[in-house]
Amino acid sequence: QYSDERAREIIAAHMGLEGPALPILHALQAEFGYVPDSAVKEMATALNISRAEMHGVVTFYHDFHSAPHGRHTLKICRAESCQSMGAEKQANDFLARQKLEWHQTTPDGSLTVEPVYCLGLCAHSPAALYDGEPIGQVDAATLDEIVAEAKG
Ligand code: FES
Repeated sequence: QYSDERAREIIAAHMGLEGPALPILHALQAEFGYVPDSAVKEMATALNISRAEMHGVVTFYHDFHSAPHGRHTLKICRAESCQSMGAEKQANDFLARQKLEWHQTTPDGSLTVEPVYCLGLCAHSPAALYDGEPIGQVDAATLDEIVAEAKG
């Protein structure tokens, strides 16, 4: 359970380090499973840098999630071969149907949708990865089935 107080403790424990930002982010993520906006705010204050800069750091390192990660992960390929098979429009339509953006999680916490850049499945474009399982010839129905399956 996140609390600003616990975040401040974690931040304080790393302030003696040189370049404490990354170790703090790792520690926050390890503790809470994600790096909440209000922890970013606490960090920005402690490190005396702007919130915008701090957000830059968090989003630059894709390992850090700014919201709790879903129980399941769907990665949709956005690289060239898949794009040539209409993957980008398909993904955008899918995200619109689910009212999500890239890196976001369904409101019930079941599924996080992330972009990926070539899965080595170009012969089966458009491709995706659901909980590490490769899926080829993805179409709108496949994507919707995955959402249903993730809900369990
Ligand atoms: Fe999508 Fe290679 S471009 S799998």
